[in-house]
Amino acid sequence: MEKTPMWTANRIPPSGKAQSLAMMEPSAIEKVRRFHASFPEYAQTPLVSLDNLAGELNVGGIYLKDESPRFGLNSFKGLGASYALAAFIAKTVGMPVEELDYAAMTSPEIRERLGDFTFIATTDGNHGRGVAWAAEKIGQKAIIYMPKGCPPVKLDNIKRLGAEGYITELNYDDTIRFTAELAAKTPKGVIVQDQAWEGYTDIPGWIMQGYGVVALEACKQLSERGIKPTHLLVQAGVGAFAGASTGVVANFYGKDHPTTIVVESEAADCHYRSAIRGDGEIVNVGGDMNTIMAGLACGEPNPITWEILRDKASFFACIKDPHAARAMRILGAPVKGDGRVVSGESGASAMGCLLEMITGGSLKGLREAAGIGPDSRILLVSTEGDTDPGNYRRIVWEGAYPSI
Ligand SMILES: Cc1ncc(COP(=O)(O)O)c(C=O)c1O
Repeated sequence: MEKTPMWTANRIPPSGKAQSLAMMEPSAIEKVRRFHASFPEYAQTPLVSLDNLAGELNVGGIYLKDESPRFGLNSFKGLGASYALAAFIAKTVGMPVEELDYAAMTSPEIRERLGDFTFIATTDGNHGRGVAWAAEKIGQKAIIYMPKGCPPVKLDNIKRLGAEGYITELNYDDTIRFTAELAAKTPKGVIVQDQAWEGYTDIPGWIMQGYGVVALEACKQLSERGIKPTHLLVQAGVGAFAGASTGVVANFYGKDHPTTIVVESEAADCHYRSAIRGDGEIVNVGGDMNTIMAGLACGEPNPITWEILRDKASFFACIKDPHAARAMRILGAPVKGDGRVVSGESGASAMGCLLEMITGGSLKGLREAAGIGPDSRILLVSTEGDTDPGNYRRIVWEGAYPSI
């Protein structure tokens, strides 16, 4: 589908369903945050204020949450996997999840009561690394599958955490179907996926609550500085992260919540196409979805988080690979006085969208429609660091994917 323009306003009638949004109430997510805070590796990630870039772009403020230090995993994804495994364990052994902190979760008693599970997941790299990390902590087996074309370095990072790992010949969504079948055939096999489908909603729901911690921390960090954001730009693959973030932010600020723009790779634009369709039904995308934004190369929106996005997002935008690459370079070599952020291809995508809205051609209309100007205070997340270090260097050092 040829896209002109590369964005659309959301004109979908309200769903009349509030269940997914209710899961992202800040009080519920604060409990999840407390669970994460019991991990020895937990620390709130930085909210970097890019004041000088904001000055150059003539906007009021740009606040970028840098998820690269999260749990030492180089992306936010461990938040979802760890909470999902905790909630799964709590349900399995019949205890309230609030009582299952890091010490309890990793105790020999719980290990004994659980027996031998096998946690199976599909990943572009980051989610699987989170699952492998969380499974290793609790002494359980993890098997991780990746879509075709994933760089071996991401597989190595997963295997280093004790998991079995494989790169398939399938795309992301087909790999999920393959792993779901495998989990069903594996004794005590459990699929741990941020995608949901009929009959499979508990684990993806817990994962999105885990992801919600990013936005909750950001809202609190902004409040502490006396700042209320006017805009949220958030990247989407299956949309679990975007839906979780949008839900937390919408609940935190209430009726007067920031204008939310969902950002996708144009190669995997299932949310954009669903918004264009306009009746609330999901539109899936198939094929290889070739993009450097590997974390966003998903063609089927998560139906739980889609409920939040269709009700609370105002715009859906698509960017091209060079837009993300440019944002990686600008974040890596910032305007003098701003902090440097090492941001990977999917990590920098929301910033790529903002830059294209202000300095490029394809999203200029979106800038006007979304009312971005000198009074705007814009919240974004760099969702990963240099998770593919070879490609990071090709882009940032060698200038691959030059600006268009
Ligand atoms: C770095 C990064 N950012 C964003 C996303 C998108 O998250 P979701 O698939 O929940 O939309 C991913 C997903 O893998 C990711 O790895």
